[in-house]
Amino acid sequence: MFSGVIFLTLLLGVRAEDDTSGPVFVREPPNRIDFSNTTGAVVECSAHGNPTPDIIWVRSDGTAVGDVPGLRQVLANGNLVFPPFRAEDYRQEVHAQVYVCLAKNSVGSVHSRDVNVRAGWW
Ligand SMILES: *[C@@H]1O[C@H](CO)[C@@H](O)[C@H](O)[C@H]1NC(C)=O
Repeated sequence: MFSGVIFLTLLLGVRAEDDTSGPVFVREPPNRIDFSNTTGAVVECSAHGNPTPDIIWVRSDGTAVGDVPGLRQVLANGNLVFPPFRAEDYRQEVHAQVYVCLAKNSVGSVHSRDVNVRAGWW
């Protein structure tokens, strides 16, 4: 009786562990994003895994990027958004920057290729 319960517990424990998986990109961003200040851009990044991976964006030196009001937004779904902006609001560190998407859960993490973002006036 007890050994049966223990066996079942072990079996369920192993099965639960088998259900976890490291992040795999569903949408990996492209290597290059050129966008116009009048349109802005949305850079998509999503990954699946169990537990559901967290998506963060980092610079090529590994430091995380955050929101810059009106210029850059990191959405909860993992997308990186560059709204349209006026010429005088151009900021090189935001608008001409190499970004990397990082997907992470308790099993592991994956990072995207470098995403070279460049905004211009075309
Ligand atoms: C984009 O830049 C051009 C040139 O500086 C400017 O005329 C235009 O208003 C800007 N677009 C927006 C949405 O601010």
